[in-house]
Amino acid sequence: MEILPATTNDIDEITNVEIRSKMASFPSLVEPHDIDFETRQYRWKTWFAAQSPATSKPQRVLFKAVADNSIIGYIAVHLTTRYEKDAEIQSFYVLKEYQRKGIGTGLLLNAVNWLETQHTKSLCVGIAKNTPYRAFYIKYGGGHLNEHWICWEDVAAIIMS
Ligand SMILES: CC(C)(COP(=O)(O)OP(=O)(O)OC[C@H]1O[C@@H](n2cnc3c(N)ncnc32)[C@H](O)[C@@H]1OP(=O)(O)O)[C@@H](O)C(=O)NCCC(=O)NCCS
Repeated sequence: MEILPATTNDIDEITNVEIRSKMASFPSLVEPHDIDFETRQYRWKTWFAAQSPATSKPQRVLFKAVADNSIIGYIAVHLTTRYEKDAEIQSFYVLKEYQRKGIGTGLLLNAVNWLETQHTKSLCVGIAKNTPYRAFYIKYGGGHLNEHWICWEDVAAIIMS
């Protein structure tokens, strides 16, 4: 497995990983628009073009985890104005069959290293209510801003946890 920055050439594969992971990870929380290929693909096109979300700043990166020439997970982060934090995790998915093998941790550490090159300190991420995956962020020192958002005041602490 290797972790590499992604480009717009990866949009279709990233969209498929997002949809497959959502359907397998929390099927009861998924709405039809969450797993509609064209809707999600369009969202990725606007994200790579720095047109979404409205609260984002242009600086952004998506790291992909690749095994046997296929994307098996990714993390997308950008600088933000949301909640007066410096950065936001836009989307973070590992295929269900590859979860709990350390891939998410590897992706998060790549994102944190990139954030440090951008001189950012604080970070936030939106997360669905009632999902067990919250435990991942708590393990890495995230604190609840409210029931939908987890944040860190100092991303460097993630590397040390
Ligand atoms: C969250 C996610 C990206 C983490 O990726 P991952 O490759 O499974 O993470 P890791 O294997 O590095 O997990 C590291 C630790 O986080 C914790 N953790 C991860 N998933 C967990 C779960 N479902 N329940 C409880 N703890 C969990 C564990 O402490 C784990 O260490 P362990 O396996 O040694 O116990 C991945 O599980 C995923 O795609 N989930 C579905 C989508 C999602 O919820 N994304 C985040 C919200 S945007």
